[in-house]
This record gives sequence, structure tokens and C-alpha cells, in this order.
Amino acid sequence: MSNLDNLESDLLTAIDGAETETALEDVRVHALGKKGRISEQMKTLGKMTPEERQVMGPALNGLKAKITDAISARKDILAEAALEQRLASETVDVTLPLRPSPAETGRIHPVSQVIDELTAIFADMGFSIAEGPDIETDELNFTALNFPEGHPAREMHDTFFFNEKEDGERLLLRTHTSPVQIRTMRTQEPPIRVIIPGRTYRCDSDQTHTPMFHQVEGLVIDKESHFGHLKWVLQEFCKSFFEVDDIKMRFRPSFFPFTEPSMEVDIQCDRSGGEVRIGQGDDWLEILGCGMVHPNVIRNCGLDPDVYQGFAWGMGIDRIAMLKYGMPDLRAFFDADVRWIQHYGFRPLDLPTLFGGLSN
Ligand code: DAH
Repeated sequence: MSNLDNLESDLLTAIDGAETETALEDVRVHALGKKGRISEQMKTLGKMTPEERQVMGPALNGLKAKITDAISARKDILAEAALEQRLASETVDVTLPLRPSPAETGRIHPVSQVIDELTAIFADMGFSIAEGPDIETDELNFTALNFPEGHPAREMHDTFFFNEKEDGERLLLRTHTSPVQIRTMRTQEPPIRVIIPGRTYRCDSDQTHTPMFHQVEGLVIDKESHFGHLKWVLQEFCKSFFEVDDIKMRFRPSFFPFTEPSMEVDIQCDRSGGEVRIGQGDDWLEILGCGMVHPNVIRNCGLDPDVYQGFAWGMGIDRIAMLKYGMPDLRAFFDADVRWIQHYGFRPLDLPTLFGGLSN
């Protein structure tokens, strides 16, 4: 066997024996690199006689081509084997449980949920939303709502006042959403049909009171709305909100400076089983105050009470949330305890709609 034949079989054995792409690259450098065995042979051509060169030249070139082809064929085989191995080792176990997404673990606070629910109900009846600031003037929170200066009704509100300003004015944290009635009537032309959900503040704290709480106010002003309409609106609201077919309501005479006549509304409930059930039983539970808007209030907003009339109501959002969802302590609403929100919260993508169901 000639030297070249030996070299060829050495190199082919090394190529076949290369088990990885790195090993194969080593063989390539060993054979064809600058100082490789074939390259070294090539360098000897210059020193040969023309006759020798005529034989050795083609022989060496042929060897070079053969080795190059063998390396590239081996490379393909190794690449394919590597791919096979990756495919086998990187399989995905489709039976593994899904990791819960934020949409699964996040929760909507019951107050937000109930605001969405009552917005869906009143929007369906043609109401729009009105809003006002939490920091309010004495004039809008009390005076324009027909609370005379020094009237005991002011004291009943346990108001948080700010320090007096230089001009003697004392701002306050609104004690109810009713000042937004005034803001609305002063800026919108009747007919007015709005609900006003928002935060309210009173210096009070126990199982059913927190210093910050939520109310939703309703206001209808036009030329003919009367007490019958008010009753219907509240009745329809209660049926939709508590998701019952029928609900008995009781309108009791009451007093608010900004309505005349004024009523408090109780709904039928059953307290016998330790928890409160709405829409059955023969007990009563107070849920809201309402009445026909007082002529003085209409006048304070620049409207003529001989032309315009209407009704209003105010309801505690936290209160009806506690009732609907059986939450016993209002203070827990604002403790920011993750365990509480996990238990009582709502799934973020389950938006309450009348079509799809409010609470499911
Ligand atoms: N603002 C009253 C409160 O916080 C609730 C209320 C009663 C609002 C009667 C009204 C209403 O609009 O007509 O106690």
C-alpha cells in the first residue's frame, strides 16, 4: 500500500470514529488545516520533478476531495443524530397541570364588583354616571342640600373637617354622595337621570361602619317624575341586584333635609337561620333613604321648582355588598388581607352583565 493509501484509510477511520461535531472538526483540522497531514503533503509537490508531480498532484487533490466529502457526509449524520436526540430529550409533558395565569389568581374587590353590578342595572334603565370630588365644600355637602346653619342634621353626620382656610372657609370630606346632586343640577339641563357611586367619610367605626365607605346616589329631575316612578325604579333595582323574582319592600316615612316627603326603605328578609336571606321571611332590613327632591334644593340649583321636580335616593354600597355576598364584618373590606380577597373576591374577567348574569 502506498503512503497515500495509508493516509486515506487513517483519515477515513478517524472520520468514521468521530462521535461528535467537535471531534469531527478536530479530524478536519488534523487532515486539511494549514498544518494538516494532506496540506503538508501538498507542500512537497514543489520539490518534486515534473513527472512525479504529474502523478502526485492529481492523487493528492483526489484524496483531498474524498476526505472533504467524507467529512461533510459524517457531519450530516452527526447533525441528524443530534437533532434526534434533542427531539427525544426535549419532549413536553402535555399532561402537566397548567400554571395559573394572573387572570386566574387576581381578584376583584366586592365593592368594585357591586359598583359594576349596579352600574349595569341602572345603565339598562337609562341612567348615566355622575361624579364629584371626595373633598367638598360645606355649601355643597350641607347648605345647598337644605341643611340650615346650626341644624342638628349636620351634627348627625360625624363630619371630618379640614382646618379653616385664611378666608374662613372650612373644607370637609363629603359625608354622602348627595352634594353631587347639586353639582349635577347646576351643570346639566333636565331631564336628568344619573347615579352617583363614590366614596364617603364619617368619623365612625364598628362592625358595620368604617370611616371611609361607599354610597350610590340616584337622581331623576324632569317635569313629571313622581313617587310611583321612584318606587318602580327601586323595586326593579332590588329584584335585579339580589337576583330574586320578587321582593317585598316597605316605605317608611322619615326625614332628610333635601327631600320632601322622605322615606326609608326596608326589604323583606329572613333572619331565622343565623344569616340574612333576602326576598323571603317576615323580617325587615333597612337599605336606603329616598324621597322627592325638596323645592329648596331645586331652587338652590337655579331651577324653578314649579316647573321641575323629581326624586333621589342614597344607598350604602358596602352594606348591600355585605347582604348579597354574606360578608359579616365591614372592617375586613379595607384591611387589605389577601386571604379575605381570595375568599370574597371575584374573577377579573367575569364582568357582571344583565345578559350574562350579575354574579356568576
Ligand atoms: N344622603 C343620605 C345619607 O347619607 C342618604 C339619602 C337619603 C340620599 C335620601 C338621598 C335621599 O338622595 O333622597 O344619609
